[in-house]
Amino acid sequence: MKPMKPMCACTVLLALLVAAPAGAQQPQKIIFDTDFAYPPQDDAMTLFFALNCPELQIMGITTVAGNKSLNVAVADSLKVLEVTGRTEIPVFRGAASPLMHQGTEWDTKRHGGWYANEPAPAPPGGFAKKKVESLSAVDFIVNTVMQNPGQVTILAIGPLTNIAMAMRMEPGFAAKVKQLVIMGGAIASLPDGGGNHTPNAEFNFYVDPEAAQIVLRSGIPIVLSPLNISRKARFSKEWYDKIVAVDTPATRLIKERMGPGFEKSPERVGLMYDQIAAATLIDPTLMKTVELYVDVDINHAANYGVSVGAPQPWPGGEGARKMMVQTDLDWDRFIRLYVERVTRSSPSAPKR
Ligand code: BDR
Ligand code: CA
Repeated sequence: MKPMKPMCACTVLLALLVAAPAGAQQPQKIIFDTDFAYPPQDDAMTLFFALNCPELQIMGITTVAGNKSLNVAVADSLKVLEVTGRTEIPVFRGAASPLMHQGTEWDTKRHGGWYANEPAPAPPGGFAKKKVESLSAVDFIVNTVMQNPGQVTILAIGPLTNIAMAMRMEPGFAAKVKQLVIMGGAIASLPDGGGNHTPNAEFNFYVDPEAAQIVLRSGIPIVLSPLNISRKARFSKEWYDKIVAVDTPATRLIKERMGPGFEKSPERVGLMYDQIAAATLIDPTLMKTVELYVDVDINHAANYGVSVGAPQPWPGGEGARKMMVQTDLDWDRFIRLYVERVTRSSPSAPKR
Protein backbone atom coordinates (compact mmCIF):
# COMPACT_ATOMS: atom_id res chain seq x y z
CA MET A 1 0.00 0.00 0.00
CA LYS A 2 1.28 3.49 -0.91
CA PRO A 3 1.95 5.73 2.11
CA MET A 4 -0.58 8.64 2.29
CA LYS A 5 0.81 12.05 1.27
CA PRO A 6 0.87 14.54 4.15
CA MET A 7 -1.95 17.08 3.74
CA CYS A 8 -0.98 20.70 3.16
CA ALA A 9 -2.13 23.21 5.81
CA CYS A 10 -4.81 24.72 3.54
CA THR A 11 -6.36 21.29 2.89
CA VAL A 12 -6.52 20.66 6.63
CA LEU A 13 -8.14 24.05 7.22
CA LEU A 14 -10.72 23.47 4.48
CA ALA A 15 -11.51 20.01 5.83
CA LEU A 16 -11.99 21.43 9.30
CA LEU A 17 -14.28 24.15 8.02
CA VAL A 18 -16.42 21.75 6.00
CA ALA A 19 -16.54 19.23 8.82
CA ALA A 20 -17.49 21.81 11.45
CA PRO A 21 -21.18 21.27 12.26
CA ALA A 22 -23.35 24.37 11.83
CA GLY A 23 -24.23 24.18 15.53
CA ALA A 24 -20.56 24.66 16.41
CA GLN A 25 -20.98 28.43 15.87
CA GLN A 26 -21.39 30.48 19.01
CA PRO A 27 -25.11 30.85 19.81
CA GLN A 28 -26.59 34.35 19.58
CA LYS A 29 -27.05 35.96 22.97
CA ILE A 30 -30.67 37.04 23.31
CA ILE A 31 -32.93 38.67 25.87
CA PHE A 32 -36.53 37.49 25.55
CA ASP A 33 -38.67 40.53 26.44
CA THR A 34 -42.31 39.51 26.68
CA ASP A 35 -45.86 40.18 27.83
CA PHE A 36 -46.01 36.48 28.55
CA ALA A 37 -49.11 34.42 29.21
CA TYR A 38 -49.74 30.69 29.28
CA PRO A 39 -50.35 28.88 25.96
CA PRO A 40 -52.16 29.29 23.60
CA GLN A 41 -50.86 32.89 23.93
CA ASP A 42 -48.34 33.51 21.14
CA ASP A 43 -45.59 34.56 23.57
CA ALA A 44 -45.64 31.07 25.14
CA MET A 45 -45.78 29.44 21.71
CA THR A 46 -42.72 31.52 20.82
CA LEU A 47 -40.83 30.46 23.92
CA PHE A 48 -41.40 26.78 23.06
CA PHE A 49 -39.70 27.50 19.72
CA ALA A 50 -36.81 29.54 21.13
CA LEU A 51 -36.06 27.02 23.89
CA ASN A 52 -35.30 24.39 21.26
CA CYS A 53 -33.07 26.54 19.04
CA PRO A 54 -29.41 25.77 19.72
CA GLU A 55 -28.60 28.90 17.70
CA LEU A 56 -29.91 30.98 20.62
CA GLN A 57 -28.61 31.51 24.12
CA ILE A 58 -31.52 32.93 26.11
CA MET A 59 -29.75 35.02 28.74
CA GLY A 60 -32.97 35.90 30.52
CA ILE A 61 -36.69 36.43 30.18
CA THR A 62 -37.77 39.98 30.98
CA THR A 63 -41.48 40.46 31.59
CA VAL A 64 -43.76 43.40 30.92
CA ALA A 65 -47.48 44.14 31.31
CA GLY A 66 -49.40 43.68 28.06
CA ASN A 67 -51.52 40.70 27.16
CA LYS A 68 -52.13 40.26 30.89
CA SER A 69 -50.84 41.95 34.04
CA LEU A 70 -47.13 41.87 34.89
CA ASN A 71 -47.89 39.41 37.69
CA VAL A 72 -49.38 36.98 35.20
CA ALA A 73 -46.41 37.40 32.84
CA VAL A 74 -44.05 36.50 35.71
CA ALA A 75 -46.07 33.61 37.15
CA ASP A 76 -46.79 32.02 33.78
CA SER A 77 -43.24 32.27 32.42
CA LEU A 78 -41.83 30.70 35.61
CA LYS A 79 -44.33 27.88 35.32
CA VAL A 80 -43.66 27.20 31.63
CA LEU A 81 -39.92 27.03 32.31
CA GLU A 82 -40.55 24.61 35.13
CA VAL A 83 -42.83 22.37 33.06
CA THR A 84 -40.34 22.30 30.18
CA GLY A 85 -37.39 21.62 32.51
CA ARG A 86 -35.59 24.88 31.67
CA THR A 87 -35.37 26.43 35.10
CA GLU A 88 -31.78 27.52 34.46
CA ILE A 89 -33.16 30.51 32.51
CA PRO A 90 -33.70 33.47 34.87
CA VAL A 91 -36.95 35.49 34.83
CA PHE A 92 -37.02 39.20 35.73
CA ARG A 93 -39.92 41.50 36.69
CA GLY A 94 -40.24 44.45 34.37
CA ALA A 95 -42.66 47.36 34.00
CA ALA A 96 -46.09 46.86 35.53
CA SER A 97 -47.61 49.61 33.38
CA PRO A 98 -46.77 51.77 30.34
CA LEU A 99 -44.74 54.99 30.62
CA MET A 100 -47.70 57.34 30.16
CA HIS A 101 -50.71 55.52 28.76
CA GLN A 102 -53.63 55.31 31.18
CA GLY A 103 -56.16 52.62 30.38
CA THR A 104 -59.68 53.84 29.74
CA GLU A 105 -62.99 52.07 30.11
CA TRP A 106 -62.73 51.26 26.43
CA ASP A 107 -59.45 49.39 27.03
CA THR A 108 -60.91 47.28 29.80
CA LYS A 109 -63.51 46.01 27.37
CA ARG A 110 -60.87 45.04 24.81
CA HIS A 111 -57.98 42.60 24.79
CA GLY A 112 -55.22 42.91 27.39
CA GLY A 113 -54.63 43.30 31.12
CA TRP A 114 -51.88 45.93 31.01
CA TYR A 115 -53.96 48.67 32.65
CA ALA A 116 -54.51 46.77 35.91
CA ASN A 117 -51.76 45.28 38.04
CA GLU A 118 -53.93 42.38 39.08
CA PRO A 119 -52.48 39.49 41.06
CA ALA A 120 -51.85 36.37 39.01
CA PRO A 121 -54.21 33.46 39.34
CA ALA A 122 -52.30 30.20 39.83
CA PRO A 123 -51.21 28.75 36.48
CA PRO A 124 -52.54 25.24 35.73
CA GLY A 125 -50.87 22.87 38.20
CA GLY A 126 -50.13 25.69 40.66
CA PHE A 127 -47.44 28.35 41.00
CA ALA A 128 -43.90 27.32 40.04
CA LYS A 129 -41.33 26.55 42.71
CA LYS A 130 -38.89 28.56 40.61
CA LYS A 131 -38.69 32.15 41.82
CA VAL A 132 -38.38 35.41 39.94
CA GLU A 133 -34.93 37.07 40.25
CA SER A 134 -34.55 39.96 42.70
CA LEU A 135 -32.83 42.18 40.10
CA SER A 136 -35.32 44.20 38.03
CA ALA A 137 -35.77 43.48 34.31
CA VAL A 138 -34.48 46.94 33.41
CA ASP A 139 -31.31 46.48 35.49
CA PHE A 140 -30.79 43.06 33.96
CA ILE A 141 -31.22 44.39 30.41
CA VAL A 142 -28.82 47.29 31.02
CA ASN A 143 -26.18 45.15 32.78
CA THR A 144 -26.30 42.37 30.21
CA VAL A 145 -25.96 44.72 27.26
CA MET A 146 -23.23 46.85 28.85
CA GLN A 147 -21.21 43.75 29.81
CA ASN A 148 -21.55 42.27 26.31
CA PRO A 149 -21.25 45.31 24.02
CA GLY A 150 -22.41 44.69 20.46
CA GLN A 151 -23.35 41.09 21.23
CA VAL A 152 -26.87 41.07 22.63
CA THR A 153 -30.01 40.91 20.52
CA ILE A 154 -33.28 41.81 22.20
CA LEU A 155 -36.32 39.91 20.99
CA ALA A 156 -39.07 42.32 22.01
CA ILE A 157 -42.52 40.76 21.70
CA GLY A 158 -44.55 42.90 24.07
CA PRO A 159 -44.99 46.62 24.74
CA LEU A 160 -41.58 48.32 24.60
CA THR A 161 -41.67 49.81 28.11
CA ASN A 162 -38.67 47.89 29.52
CA ILE A 163 -36.45 48.78 26.56
CA ALA A 164 -37.36 52.48 26.70
CA MET A 165 -36.64 52.47 30.46
CA ALA A 166 -33.25 50.84 29.85
CA MET A 167 -32.44 53.65 27.38
CA ARG A 168 -33.42 56.27 29.92
CA MET A 169 -31.43 54.61 32.67
CA GLU A 170 -28.16 54.20 30.79
CA PRO A 171 -27.42 56.75 28.05
CA GLY A 172 -24.75 54.47 26.54
CA PHE A 173 -27.17 51.55 26.29
CA ALA A 174 -28.55 52.00 22.76
CA ALA A 175 -25.11 52.11 21.15
CA LYS A 176 -24.22 48.75 22.72
CA VAL A 177 -27.27 46.72 21.66
CA LYS A 178 -26.48 44.48 18.70
CA GLN A 179 -30.00 44.42 17.30
CA LEU A 180 -33.65 44.66 18.23
CA VAL A 181 -36.19 42.34 16.64
CA ILE A 182 -39.58 43.80 17.48
CA MET A 183 -43.06 42.44 17.01
CA GLY A 184 -45.12 45.59 16.80
CA GLY A 185 -46.89 48.10 14.66
CA ALA A 186 -48.77 47.94 11.39
CA ILE A 187 -47.74 49.91 8.34
CA ALA A 188 -50.93 51.26 6.83
CA SER A 189 -49.24 52.32 3.60
CA LEU A 190 -48.37 48.66 2.84
CA PRO A 191 -50.79 45.77 2.17
CA ASP A 192 -52.52 44.25 5.24
CA GLY A 193 -51.58 47.28 7.33
CA GLY A 194 -54.69 47.96 9.41
CA GLY A 195 -54.49 47.83 13.21
CA ASN A 196 -55.74 45.03 15.44
CA HIS A 197 -56.58 47.13 18.48
CA THR A 198 -57.76 50.46 17.12
CA PRO A 199 -58.46 50.91 13.40
CA ASN A 200 -54.78 51.62 12.68
CA ALA A 201 -52.87 50.73 15.87
CA GLU A 202 -51.35 47.37 16.67
CA PHE A 203 -51.65 46.15 20.28
CA ASN A 204 -48.00 46.27 21.50
CA PHE A 205 -47.44 49.80 20.17
CA TYR A 206 -50.86 50.97 21.29
CA VAL A 207 -50.25 49.83 24.88
CA ASP A 208 -47.12 51.96 25.21
CA PRO A 209 -46.89 54.42 22.31
CA GLU A 210 -44.35 56.67 24.08
CA ALA A 211 -42.02 53.73 24.72
CA ALA A 212 -42.44 52.56 21.11
CA GLN A 213 -41.49 56.01 19.83
CA ILE A 214 -38.43 56.25 22.11
CA VAL A 215 -37.21 52.82 21.02
CA LEU A 216 -37.88 53.29 17.30
CA ARG A 217 -35.95 56.57 17.41
CA SER A 218 -33.03 55.02 19.35
CA GLY A 219 -30.73 54.36 16.40
CA ILE A 220 -30.41 50.69 17.44
CA PRO A 221 -30.49 48.46 14.33
CA ILE A 222 -34.11 47.30 14.18
CA VAL A 223 -35.98 44.57 12.37
CA LEU A 224 -39.68 45.33 12.71
CA SER A 225 -42.19 42.52 12.37
CA PRO A 226 -45.56 44.28 12.00
CA LEU A 227 -49.09 42.98 11.51
CA ASN A 228 -48.58 43.14 7.73
CA ILE A 229 -46.51 39.96 7.97
CA SER A 230 -48.31 38.39 10.98
CA ARG A 231 -51.41 38.17 8.83
CA LYS A 232 -49.63 35.68 6.56
CA ALA A 233 -49.08 33.21 9.41
CA ARG A 234 -52.27 31.38 10.30
CA PHE A 235 -51.84 28.49 12.70
CA SER A 236 -54.49 25.85 12.06
CA LYS A 237 -55.41 22.37 13.25
CA GLU A 238 -53.30 20.83 10.50
CA TRP A 239 -50.14 22.13 12.21
CA TYR A 240 -51.44 21.63 15.74
CA ASP A 241 -51.97 17.93 14.89
CA LYS A 242 -48.37 17.59 13.69
CA ILE A 243 -47.10 19.15 16.91
CA VAL A 244 -49.12 17.05 19.31
CA ALA A 245 -48.29 13.84 17.42
CA VAL A 246 -44.88 14.12 19.12
CA ASP A 247 -44.78 13.74 22.89
CA THR A 248 -42.61 16.19 24.84
CA PRO A 249 -43.37 18.33 27.92
CA ALA A 250 -43.99 21.33 25.62
CA THR A 251 -46.28 19.50 23.19
CA ARG A 252 -48.22 18.02 26.12
CA LEU A 253 -48.81 21.53 27.40
CA ILE A 254 -49.89 22.67 23.93
CA LYS A 255 -52.30 19.75 23.73
CA GLU A 256 -53.80 20.51 27.14
CA ARG A 257 -54.28 24.16 26.33
CA MET A 258 -55.24 24.10 22.63
CA GLY A 259 -56.83 20.67 22.26
CA PRO A 260 -60.28 21.58 23.61
CA GLY A 261 -60.48 24.66 21.37
CA PHE A 262 -59.58 22.74 18.22
CA GLU A 263 -62.01 19.94 19.15
CA LYS A 264 -64.83 22.42 19.52
CA SER A 265 -64.00 24.45 16.40
CA PRO A 266 -61.57 22.56 14.12
CA GLU A 267 -61.67 25.43 11.62
CA ARG A 268 -60.21 28.00 14.04
CA VAL A 269 -56.91 29.73 13.22
CA GLY A 270 -54.58 31.87 15.31
CA LEU A 271 -52.11 34.42 14.00
CA MET A 272 -48.47 33.66 14.84
CA TYR A 273 -47.34 37.22 15.67
CA ASP A 274 -44.39 36.73 17.99
CA GLN A 275 -43.26 33.43 16.47
CA ILE A 276 -42.27 35.24 13.26
CA ALA A 277 -40.03 37.64 15.17
CA ALA A 278 -38.26 34.70 16.85
CA ALA A 279 -37.86 32.78 13.57
CA THR A 280 -36.14 35.85 12.12
CA LEU A 281 -33.19 35.06 14.39
CA ILE A 282 -32.88 31.56 12.97
CA ASP A 283 -33.54 32.15 9.28
CA PRO A 284 -34.07 35.72 8.04
CA THR A 285 -34.47 34.43 4.47
CA LEU A 286 -37.99 33.32 5.47
CA MET A 287 -39.15 36.95 5.41
CA LYS A 288 -39.27 39.66 2.76
CA THR A 289 -38.21 42.99 4.17
CA VAL A 290 -38.15 46.58 2.95
CA GLU A 291 -36.18 49.45 4.37
CA LEU A 292 -38.54 52.15 5.64
CA TYR A 293 -38.54 55.19 7.88
CA VAL A 294 -40.94 54.40 10.74
CA ASP A 295 -42.27 56.49 13.61
CA VAL A 296 -45.06 56.17 16.16
CA ASP A 297 -47.81 58.71 16.81
CA ILE A 298 -47.99 59.75 20.47
CA ASN A 299 -50.66 62.41 20.10
CA HIS A 300 -53.57 61.57 22.33
CA ALA A 301 -56.04 61.53 19.49
CA ALA A 302 -57.47 59.16 16.89
CA ASN A 303 -54.07 57.77 15.87
CA TYR A 304 -52.52 57.24 19.33
CA GLY A 305 -50.04 54.37 19.02
CA VAL A 306 -50.19 54.15 15.22
CA SER A 307 -46.94 53.38 13.38
CA VAL A 308 -46.37 55.23 10.14
CA GLY A 309 -43.82 54.05 7.59
CA ALA A 310 -42.55 55.33 4.26
CA PRO A 311 -39.48 55.00 2.01
CA GLN A 312 -38.70 58.71 2.56
CA PRO A 313 -39.22 61.01 5.57
CA TRP A 314 -42.38 63.12 5.37
CA PRO A 315 -43.51 66.43 6.87
CA GLY A 316 -44.26 65.72 10.52
CA GLY A 317 -42.31 62.49 10.35
CA GLU A 318 -38.86 64.01 10.78
CA GLY A 319 -38.23 61.85 13.86
CA ALA A 320 -38.68 58.63 11.89
CA ARG A 321 -35.64 56.36 11.67
CA LYS A 322 -34.75 53.82 9.01
CA MET A 323 -35.30 50.16 9.83
CA MET A 324 -35.93 46.83 8.17
CA VAL A 325 -39.67 46.14 7.99
CA GLN A 326 -40.99 42.66 7.28
CA THR A 327 -43.74 42.53 4.69
CA ASP A 328 -44.10 38.94 3.53
CA LEU A 329 -43.40 35.40 4.66
CA ASP A 330 -42.46 32.10 3.07
CA TRP A 331 -45.25 30.40 5.01
CA ASP A 332 -44.40 26.87 3.99
CA ARG A 333 -40.77 27.00 5.11
CA PHE A 334 -41.62 29.02 8.21
CA ILE A 335 -44.26 26.65 9.56
CA ARG A 336 -42.07 23.62 8.88
CA LEU A 337 -39.21 25.21 10.80
CA TYR A 338 -41.58 26.14 13.62
CA VAL A 339 -43.06 22.64 13.96
CA GLU A 340 -39.66 20.99 13.67
CA ARG A 341 -38.22 23.10 16.51
CA VAL A 342 -41.23 22.94 18.84
CA THR A 343 -41.34 19.14 18.59
CA ARG A 344 -37.61 18.72 19.33
CA SER A 345 -36.61 17.38 22.69
CA SER A 346 -35.36 20.30 24.75
CA PRO A 347 -31.57 20.32 24.86
CA SER A 348 -30.16 19.59 28.30
CA ALA A 349 -29.83 22.76 30.33
CA PRO A 350 -26.68 24.62 29.21
CA LYS A 351 -24.27 25.73 31.93
CA ARG A 352 -24.51 29.44 32.64
C1 BDR B 1 -49.06 41.42 19.69
O1 BDR B 1 -49.89 41.80 20.79
C2 BDR B 1 -49.96 40.72 21.72
O2 BDR B 1 -51.28 40.43 21.98
C3 BDR B 1 -49.34 39.54 21.05
O3 BDR B 1 -48.70 38.72 22.00
C4 BDR B 1 -48.40 40.12 20.06
O4 BDR B 1 -47.14 40.37 20.64
C5 BDR B 1 -49.92 41.35 18.45
O5 BDR B 1 -50.50 42.58 18.18
CA1 CA C 1 -46.56 39.36 22.82
